[in-house]
Amino acid sequence: MKHLLSAADLTRDGAEQILATAAQMHDVQRREVKKLPVLRGRTVVNLFFEDSTRTRSSFEIAGKWLSADVINVSAKGSSVSKGESLRDTVMTVAAMGVDALVIRHHASGAPAQVTDWVDASVVNAGDGTHEHPTQALLDAYTMRSKLGDLAGRRIGIIGDLTHSRVVRSNLILLRTLGADVTLVAPPTLMPSGIAEWAAAEGFSYSYDFDEVLPKLDAAMMLRVQKERMTGGFFPTPREYTVGYGLTRERLRVLPDHAVICHPGPMNRGLEITADAADEARSLILDQVSAGVAVRMSVLYHLLGGGMSADRGEDRSAARTGAEGRGATGGMSADRGEDRSAARTGAEGRGATGDMKA
Ligand code: MLT
Repeated sequence: MKHLLSAADLTRDGAEQILATAAQMHDVQRREVKKLPVLRGRTVVNLFFEDSTRTRSSFEIAGKWLSADVINVSAKGSSVSKGESLRDTVMTVAAMGVDALVIRHHASGAPAQVTDWVDASVVNAGDGTHEHPTQALLDAYTMRSKLGDLAGRRIGIIGDLTHSRVVRSNLILLRTLGADVTLVAPPTLMPSGIAEWAAAEGFSYSYDFDEVLPKLDAAMMLRVQKERMTGGFFPTPREYTVGYGLTRERLRVLPDHAVICHPGPMNRGLEITADAADEARSLILDQVSAGVAVRMSVLYHLLGGGMSADRGEDRSAARTGAEGRGATGGMSADRGEDRSAARTGAEGRGATGDMKA
């Protein structure tokens, strides 16, 4: 796999591999010394044309913990604010010798467009209202940590679906993993053409949160994206909360085993109350923590590791770097042969079997 642009780039096996590596990375994250040498000498640029706290900082930490050189470029403070085009900006950055570009852009499709202009791997870190594949991976990772296999699990995605890129990536990935997904929104915030989309992709949708709530294994609450709204999508914030917020009253109806997720940032008191955000079933901070492990895994698979089952020998060489010597010590230049084995896994073969082209 060279790029990660959409959750649809991932087959079930490909997603499973990324999630399995994320679990190994999560172990590293819990150690005192977190550095792995696997991306030493590689350069990752985070190119953010839109605001972000979690995504940008977790990509930065992920790259650094894998020993890559990580540079952050944001639209504010760069030549973009002087009117430079997306093409000129990415080609300028790429000309410096970059291995991966992590791109967030307000235009849907921008990261895919960038792949036509540069040789570097491109990761979509959120494009307009289109997709946010690493968010879906970290959501799946987090839900699995509590619910186990997601096949057959009933997952509700509730909120402002019209303006959300998270919903599309989650829907695709959760269906790939076999989950039973129901989208819930008021009619004004339900994507247009929902009936055809649901029929074609095999998921359900509802305008009635209270009818769906008692059947859920996971409630994924999405943010009301006021900055993308051009008109009135609901009468008052209070009415939105009454119809679609995860309130204290609704917590009593949500099954005890069910988990609560929110990609953040939250509008506390609007789509989710403090009772729900902070209660024991809430995995919101687990999602943040998983974000680093999942992004380490994605960068590792794009730049440093093999992806296909028949490439086990290379992956195990790479893993020896990650696990065998741990994060404490033996990560020095004398391990160069292992790192190059790991790299050969990625570069020599490019996108491998388990990932769609
Ligand atoms: C996103 O960037 O799409 C966020 O993770 C979710 C949001 O902004 O509500």
